[in-house]
Amino acid sequence: MGQARLPARRGLGCCVLVLLLLLGGSGSPGTPPPPRGPRPQEPGPEPEGGPWGRGRYEAVRSHLGTVGALSRQYWRYVACRLWPEGCQEEEKREGREAAPIPSWSFPLVGQDYLEILSAWYCSFGRCCETGDCRIINNITGLEADLSGQLHGQHLAKEVVVQAVRGFLQSPQPRRALVLSFHGWSGTGKNFVARMVASHLYRDGLKSDCVRVFVSLLHFPHHNYVDSYKAQLHRQISETLQRCRQALFIFDEAEKLHSSLLDAIRPFMAPQDSEDQQRSIFLFLSNLGGNTINEVTLDFWRAGRAREEIPLELLEQRLRLELQEAAENSYAHSHLLRENLIDFVVPFLPLEYHHVKLCARDAFLARGIPYTEATLNEVAQMMVFVPKEEKLFSAQGCKSVPQRINYFLP
Ligand SMILES: *[C@@H]1O[C@H](CO)[C@@H](O)[C@H](O)[C@H]1NC(C)=O
Repeated sequence: MGQARLPARRGLGCCVLVLLLLLGGSGSPGTPPPPRGPRPQEPGPEPEGGPWGRGRYEAVRSHLGTVGALSRQYWRYVACRLWPEGCQEEEKREGREAAPIPSWSFPLVGQDYLEILSAWYCSFGRCCETGDCRIINNITGLEADLSGQLHGQHLAKEVVVQAVRGFLQSPQPRRALVLSFHGWSGTGKNFVARMVASHLYRDGLKSDCVRVFVSLLHFPHHNYVDSYKAQLHRQISETLQRCRQALFIFDEAEKLHSSLLDAIRPFMAPQDSEDQQRSIFLFLSNLGGNTINEVTLDFWRAGRAREEIPLELLEQRLRLELQEAAENSYAHSHLLRENLIDFVVPFLPLEYHHVKLCARDAFLARGIPYTEATLNEVAQMMVFVPKEEKLFSAQGCKSVPQRINYFLP
C-alpha cells in the first residue's frame, strides 16, 4: 500500500506544477482549463522564483488548499447523511462542529474543480505503475470481511461476491453490472455498498471513481427533475471518463424519480464499443422488505433454518411484487421491467443474536471491553417484531454503534 502510494503522490506533485503553469497562463484561478487529453510537456519553471514570482505561487497554493477543504467538507456531508455513526466521533476528534453547508452549489464548485484536477492527473498515465492505483479490486478481502462482519445475510454475501467477481474477471463485459439491494433498514445494504467500495477502490467511497447519490439529498424536489437529470448525466459521464472502472451507488432508490432513470439508462445499456470501461451500479431500497420478512418468518415458523431460504424463491417473489407496483412513478419498477437489473439481492430481517453480533463488532471497533451481559443489554434496547414472536429487530442493526455509548467505561 505504502509503496503503491508514493509514485501517485509524486505524480500529483507534478500535476500540480502543470496546473500552476496553466493557471499562471490563464490568469484566472476561478476558471480552470478543461481537461483535453495530455498536453505537451514543457520544461516547467520552478514554483519559487522564475517568471512566476512567489506571490502567484502562494495564491494558487492557497486556492488549492481551499478546494481540498471544500471537498473534504462535501464528502463528510454526504457521509454523515449516509452513516451518522462515524460522524460524531470525527467531529469530536477535530474539535469542532461540522459547519452546516449553506447551499448545495457552494461545495459543488470545489468538487468540480477536483474532478478536473484528477482527470488531468490521470490523463498523463502516471497514476501508478500498475496502471491505476486507485483501483485495488480486493475480492478475497471483500469476501473475508463480509463473512466476518455482515451478520445473517448468507444470500446477500454470496450474490454480491459472485456477481462482482464474475464481472471483474470477465475479459470484456458488454454492459454494466447492476445490482438491486432490497430489505428493511438496518439490515446491511449500506454496509455492503461501503464494503464493495472499500475493497474495489483504494480510497473507498471517497474515491473519485465512486459516486454516491442519495435520492432525497441530491434530488429532493420534483420540480427540478430536469436539472437533476442533466447534472446526473454529467456526473456519471465525467466519472466514466476518468476511471476505467466506476462504481455508482443510488441510495433510497425507491425514491428515485423515474425520469432520472433516463439519465442513467444509457450507461447501463449494452455497448459495442471496444473500450475496456467497466461500471457497477448499486441500487439500495427498502422495497420488497415486507415480502422478504414474510418469507423469512414462514421459514422460521416451519422450523427451518434461514440459511435454507433459496435465492430463487426470494428473487421470484421480489420481482413479482416490484413489477406489480407499476403504478408508481419511481424508477425501480422501470429498472425491472426493462430487465436492467442483473441481480436482485435480498437482505433478510435480523434476529436477536445478529444484533448481538453487531454490538460486539461495535465494541471491538471502539476498543471498549464488553461481556455477554452488555451485548444482551444492547440487543434488548431494540424493538422486535412481530408482536407475538418478537423475532426480528425492527431497526436491524441500525443505531447499534450509537447505543454502545451507554456502556462507555
Ligand atoms: C484485502 O482485504 C483484506 C481484508 O480487508 C486485507 O486484510 C488485505 O490486506 C487486502 N489486500 C490488499 C492487497 O489490499
